[in-house]
Amino acid sequence: MNQATAYANANIALVKYWGKRDHPLNIPCVSSLSMTLNDFGTTVSLSWSTSGAHETLIDGARVHAHVAMRTARYLEQLRALYPFDGFFVVSSTSNVPIASGLASSASFYAALATALNKILDLRLTVRDCSKLARVGSASAARSLFSRFAVLHGGLHCDHHDAYADSTIAHQNLDLAMVIAVVSDQPKPISSREAMVQSKATSPFFDAFVATQPKDFARAITALRDGSLETLGTIMEHSTLKMFSTMWTAQPAINYWHPHTIALINAVYELRLMLGPVVYFTMDAGPNVKILCSQTVLPDVVRFIAQKSLTQHLYVVTPGQGAYVMDAS
Ligand code: PMV
Repeated sequence: MNQATAYANANIALVKYWGKRDHPLNIPCVSSLSMTLNDFGTTVSLSWSTSGAHETLIDGARVHAHVAMRTARYLEQLRALYPFDGFFVVSSTSNVPIASGLASSASFYAALATALNKILDLRLTVRDCSKLARVGSASAARSLFSRFAVLHGGLHCDHHDAYADSTIAHQNLDLAMVIAVVSDQPKPISSREAMVQSKATSPFFDAFVATQPKDFARAITALRDGSLETLGTIMEHSTLKMFSTMWTAQPAINYWHPHTIALINAVYELRLMLGPVVYFTMDAGPNVKILCSQTVLPDVVRFIAQKSLTQHLYVVTPGQGAYVMDAS
C-alpha cells in the first residue's frame, strides 16, 4: 500500500489517568474513562519517505525538531513491535489547538495508529490498534472508540493488557461538553514530564492511584445507569485529585490561570441555578471542559460566554471513533 489517511477525534477523560508504570510502552498506572468528541480532531496521512528518515509535517510545513523526534521515536517503537522496512512521511492537519491541554496528541496518535494499521496491512482489531495508539500517547487509545471509552491500566504492567474498549452509556443520558479555552498557548511543561514529576515526588500520588479503582467503577456504573449527578461528582473529584498531585510535586506544577478558577466558580453558580446537571473537568492545561446535559446547553453557553473569561468556546457532543478515510 502506498498511502493511508485516517481521522480521529480528541477525547476528554471523565475519570483521569495520570502517571505511568515504569514501562517503555506507556502503561498507565490507573484505568480511565473518557468521552470521544465530535468534529474536534486530527487527520493523519501516511506515505513512504524517500529521504531515508521519517518526516513529520503539520499543515504541510516541517515541524520543530523535538516534535519530529517524538514521532520518529514512536515509529521506531512500532517497528520493534511490527517489523517493517522503510520510513514514513507523517502529514497531519487538525482543528485542535496543539499542546494546550486540549487532547491534540490523543487525536494525532489515534489517527496515526489507525493509518499505520492500514498502510502496513496489520489487520489489527480496534482493541489491538488502541494499544498501538497508547504507545504514542496513553490517552490516544481511547480515541479509537465512539462516544465513551475506557483505557485499562493493565494488571500485569504488560503491553497486552493495557488496551481501550468502548463502554455503554444510558440512552437517556444526552451529554454535551463546552470547552472553555482560557489559553491555547503551548503549556509550560508537557503532560509526559509533569506526570513523571508528580509520580516521583508528590506524597499524594499514591493516594490518587489507590482511590482510582473506586472512582472508575462508580463512574462506569453512573454512565450506564444515566446518573449525570454521580458521574459529574466523580469527574470533578478525579480532576482535583489529579491536580493535587501536581501542586504537591517538587518542584510544583501549576497549569491554572486566574480565569480557570473563575470558570470553576461559574460552574458552581450554574449548578445552583440549573441543578445537578453541569460539572467541570480539566487536563494538563488551564482550559476548563464543562460537561452538562444537552437540555441546559444553551443556558451554559450563554452564561459562560457573558463572563468574558474565554478566548474560544467549543461545543461538542459524543463523537465517532477513529476511522480510515482513504488508502491506496
Ligand atoms: O495521553 P497523555 O500521556 O498525554 O496524558 C494525558 C493525561 C490527561 O489528559 C491529563 C488525563 C487523561 O486521562 O486524558
